Amino acid sequence: MPIHTSPNYWVLEMRHTAYAFGLNKMGLLSHCYWGKCLPFVQDYPAPVEPVHWPSTDGYDHFIPEEYPGYAGVKYIDPVLKVTYPDGVRDVVLEFQDFTTTASPQPTLDLRFKDSFYPLQLTLHYRIHEEYDLIERWATLENLGNDPVLIERAFSAKWTMPHGDDYSLSHLYGRHIDEFHLKREALTPGLKVIESRRIIPSHRASPWFAVDRNASEDHGEVWFGTLAWSGNFKITAEVTEFASTRISIGINDWDFAWRLLPGEPLVTPSAIGGYTSDGFGAASRIFHDYVRDRLLPHGKVLHKVLYNSWEATLFDVNEVSQSKLAAIAAGMGVELFVMDDGWFHNRNLDNAGLGDWFPDKVKFPNGLGGLIKRVNELGMDFGLWIEPEMVNPDSDLYRAHPDWVIHFPTRKRTESRNQLILNMARAEVQNYLIETLDKILSENNIAFIKWDMNRGISEPGWADAPGDPRELWVRYVYGVYHVWSTLRQRHPDVIWQSCASGGGRADFGILKLADQVWVSDNTEATARLSIQEGYSQFLPANTMEAWVTDWGRELVPLEFRFHVSMCGLLGVGGNLLEWNQAERQVGAELIRLYKEIRPVIQFGDQYRLISSQKNGYSAVQYVSKDKNEGVLFAFRVHIPDPFNLPMIRLRGLDPNAIYSVEGFEQPRSGLAWMETGLKVELKNLQSKVMKIHRLSA
Ligand code: DGJ
Repeated sequence: MPIHTSPNYWVLEMRHTAYAFGLNKMGLLSHCYWGKCLPFVQDYPAPVEPVHWPSTDGYDHFIPEEYPGYAGVKYIDPVLKVTYPDGVRDVVLEFQDFTTTASPQPTLDLRFKDSFYPLQLTLHYRIHEEYDLIERWATLENLGNDPVLIERAFSAKWTMPHGDDYSLSHLYGRHIDEFHLKREALTPGLKVIESRRIIPSHRASPWFAVDRNASEDHGEVWFGTLAWSGNFKITAEVTEFASTRISIGINDWDFAWRLLPGEPLVTPSAIGGYTSDGFGAASRIFHDYVRDRLLPHGKVLHKVLYNSWEATLFDVNEVSQSKLAAIAAGMGVELFVMDDGWFHNRNLDNAGLGDWFPDKVKFPNGLGGLIKRVNELGMDFGLWIEPEMVNPDSDLYRAHPDWVIHFPTRKRTESRNQLILNMARAEVQNYLIETLDKILSENNIAFIKWDMNRGISEPGWADAPGDPRELWVRYVYGVYHVWSTLRQRHPDVIWQSCASGGGRADFGILKLADQVWVSDNTEATARLSIQEGYSQFLPANTMEAWVTDWGRELVPLEFRFHVSMCGLLGVGGNLLEWNQAERQVGAELIRLYKEIRPVIQFGDQYRLISSQKNGYSAVQYVSKDKNEGVLFAFRVHIPDPFNLPMIRLRGLDPNAIYSVEGFEQPRSGLAWMETGLKVELKNLQSKVMKIHRLSA
């Protein structure tokens, strides 16, 4: 097993990288190394000892602890904060023992106990060798009789090699403008990236990358994420003694957990990796991991779908949807998804949420007729739901006003005319499981889009069994429970995660959902940048992208298709208004996409020229065997005359000969990668080119 153990020192070795830590003479678990594998176990550095300890600074400034509690003279940002029943707020952890297990992946568990109180902490380290990834989480157990209040329990602290000259990359944004990449210098102090909205949100993503001088293709990058679909927090701290550390976990803002005997608190997994090959390699490692280890249907080729939302909004019925379906099928669409508007009394966004049965006026005979029609046209059928929500104008709310998150003495602030069901409550979970199971059991539904369209307010839970602030965590567990139960009952259904676009895109939800609706912004030139940001940590086969009518007057249809073809191609325009020529172009590009989609969905992605930084951009996908590739080039708007840059390909076999569509002369992989090629485009033009290996 690639975990080297000794009584007080541990090395986790993966394919190319290693991670080491050990107990120092004070018994503190000190981080020792995270980087390339070293030839011998004795090569890894020893734990850090408190060599000097000025009276004004605690030793933890010098000892990069793996999991520091708030205690003693530690002034760094802790990962664990506890209040014991007698009011003591100081957690002193002493190492007890460790165990290793080989399966499902090699895992090391280290057990600690508080020196006085009956609190037990287990740190878990699981390695994913072929991905060079370490998964870390913690379990807290109360071995006594009285509740212990946990006020912060992060999943991991990651320590960089000593130094204070790092940069932090992270993603930020807002609704219809998600996934902007920001890279900024880390300076002494604390930088916080977090969500307080009960979903990861559009504002920030639970992802980070730290580097010293890396580029897309070169340089050391330490990167990580949290498999959690709720409030998260990332803190990046540079101490006054030049140590750089990143903590990641469930956000402790407004959080508290009453830890009861016999009911462990298990944190979500933090996943971290190291590469010396730049940001592109870091992304590809996560892409492979998500596809191979997380997604329920990671090996399934995704179908081209049509979604009705932008065409018909709430105005759905058998006639309007059948018309759209017929045109979509004629263009080669394989899955027809009916979006919002199909259920009881849902004519606008002010009523109906919660009443998950077909509206009697729009669908007098249920959904069966439409589904039959869609199936006859050769397509699968998909449906939109927003289970966590309720409109005050709904039968559900009239029957159970107490089921929503609220404070009894405060106004229940509505957003999009809706309130949030308290998913932590068992009766809410059971209602949703039974109601949604009925729809899935009675109808031939192959796809569900699970939406979530507002952030939380007045986070009250009057009759909470524990601390009401457990809501932040128990809510997410509730979502996971409902979703996974429905998944188990309907294992073949493909699920999409949507939260007004990309508000819930994370490694936690991708254990349940196969794909993400990345943004409500479907204007293609904006979408290019959004998609590039998304690709920092999530793969193309999770990135649903529709071609719509947004920007139709300006942006050519081919361009709009090419942008969507970089992920999971879908169509969302009002096909009734597309003329014959447009439908024809659409049909041809759908046919082309079906040819190249295995490379896009399962291949390696290379961001050749950034669309977030340039008006001219390129992205390439290469199959794992390096036999096939696809190159996309886009020009948004650059004043002419302009000397367009050469596009240097990536990921090819340097010694093999490749052809690139549109270029007469086949060349070696090395030549395409070193000297590149020029794709002349005018403003708002784009091109897709197939790459093919001709010889070994
Ligand atoms: C928000 C989603 O992001 C849209 O795609 C659409 O499903 C609407 N909700 C429907 O209300």
